[in-house]
Amino acid sequence: MSPDPPVNRPGLFIALEGPEGAGKSSQVVRLAQRLRDEGVDPLVTREPGGSPAGDRVRAVLLDPSLRLEPLSELLLYAAARAQHVAELIAPALGAGRLVLTDRFSAATVAYQGYGRRLDLDFVEALNERVTLGHRPDLTVLLDLQPHLGLERVAARGATDRLERAALDFHQRVRDGFLAQSRDDPGGWAVIGADDDPDAVAHAVWAAVAPRLREWAGR
Ligand SMILES: Nc1ncnc2c1ncn2[C@@H]1O[C@H](COP(=O)(O)OP(=O)(O)OP(=O)(O)O)[C@@H](O)[C@H]1O
Ligand SMILES: [Mg+2]
Repeated sequence: MSPDPPVNRPGLFIALEGPEGAGKSSQVVRLAQRLRDEGVDPLVTREPGGSPAGDRVRAVLLDPSLRLEPLSELLLYAAARAQHVAELIAPALGAGRLVLTDRFSAATVAYQGYGRRLDLDFVEALNERVTLGHRPDLTVLLDLQPHLGLERVAARGATDRLERAALDFHQRVRDGFLAQSRDDPGGWAVIGADDDPDAVAHAVWAAVAPRLREWAGR
């Protein structure tokens, strides 16, 4: 199924996605710096969170002491995203800014759809509603075998609620990201995240630079 065209707006919307510990947060920092070097001032944000209310929802979602029903988990992510889009993302894109987010709606399809096995059509309909139709112009998938990413986050210290889920859950999440990239090859760039951070940053930039040129020359 080919997606509808995204809503018309002057900004450029880039999402970094991938399983636990793939290096999203590290690469967002590097990409943001590279963009600034190119004279672009990105709005850098993350999910869940990105707004004061969303950050409170984030705390619930990641708290390892809480047990959440898959449906509650989905709705909390959706609530945080609705707030994030309305408060931050849509206004910034409307004002012509480049928005760079650490995770977005594809993560919900991967985690709650493929990982928790909630109905994919429902997850996608909810995404469409809470994003107000804003889809990333480019989703950069940092792809990594789940056990490698989980080793990285375990080495980082305390683990959160999602990181503690079973390995087969994380395998379905990875498969869910890859399936989405196959469904929309023009909108996704898949990058192997097991290389060293400099090599990954280089590949991320190679995916982003043509979009940036297109956007700047529009
Ligand atoms: N290419 C890499 N090679 C080895 N280690 C890496 C690489 N990229 C990041 N790391 C390390 O792996 C850990 C996880 O990285 P990071 O926090 O950027 O990943 P993430 O995808 O944002 O994780 P999370 O899913 O938990 O948000 C950090 O300790 C980071 O220093
Ligand atoms: Mg991160």
